[in-house]
Amino acid sequence: MSGQASLEKGGTRLIIIQADDYQDMSQRAFQFIKNKIEKTPVLKLGFATGGTPQKTYELLIEDFQKNGTSYKSIISFNLDEYIGLSKEHPNSYHQYMEQKLFQYIDIEKENIHLPNGVTTDITKECLNYENLIEEKGGIDLQILGIGENGHIGFNEPGTSFDTLTHVVKLAQSTREANARYFSNIADVPTHAITMGIQTILKSKEILLLVSGENKAFAIKRLLTEDLSIDFPASALKKHPRVTIIADKLALSSVTGLVESR
Ligand code: F6R
Repeated sequence: MSGQASLEKGGTRLIIIQADDYQDMSQRAFQFIKNKIEKTPVLKLGFATGGTPQKTYELLIEDFQKNGTSYKSIISFNLDEYIGLSKEHPNSYHQYMEQKLFQYIDIEKENIHLPNGVTTDITKECLNYENLIEEKGGIDLQILGIGENGHIGFNEPGTSFDTLTHVVKLAQSTREANARYFSNIADVPTHAITMGIQTILKSKEILLLVSGENKAFAIKRLLTEDLSIDFPASALKKHPRVTIIADKLALSSVTGLVESR
């Protein structure tokens, strides 16, 4: 059984939707995104990579193939990219998006945006990326995952909530978590370009997807602790429109907070 709750505390309001499992979380996320696509003429959609949204992207592809939901007028912005990996590198987030979604749908190439991880002027790249988001009118819906340490994008613990797109040194725990996609941990880049916390908070709406027991502690901290730069995802409590779709395992440490109904 699944349920919905909202956490209202100190002026913050998070909508929490409990899904049965990963499949159900993905199905609900897919439906949420599809509704936005259908309702918004030129949707500026912020994408995340990682394991969590993969099934959601598969469902978007399936829907495109079956029902022809079009992405022609969608403008996409990804959260982040590794520094040092070219667009063609199999582990780059450019390739992730191409392989997991973009090649199968009708999104226009010129409407796809990710930070360039191999630029010679990284400071300029960060500024340009931030400005581009502004020029396009800002992100309407930003999809997010969460790290076990509470990172959002690649904003690791200690990141100021005021940050715009910037360069980060990846936490060792993040490199270890992402090593599963590389042949060994030494190949995982040490740095990345990421939208800052402020960039994320400027999005009009945020959809946070969470699955699995390894995220239960992070969700517990998000729902029970106060704002703190030591836990980057807590910044989401400053945003007026955040929906969290989390499965039962991810919510297993906060069962009292999300009642089934
Ligand atoms: C991905 C990103 C990260 C991931 C997070 C969770 O673009 O910015 O914040 O969302 O590391 O990753 P998974 O989904 O693999 O657990």
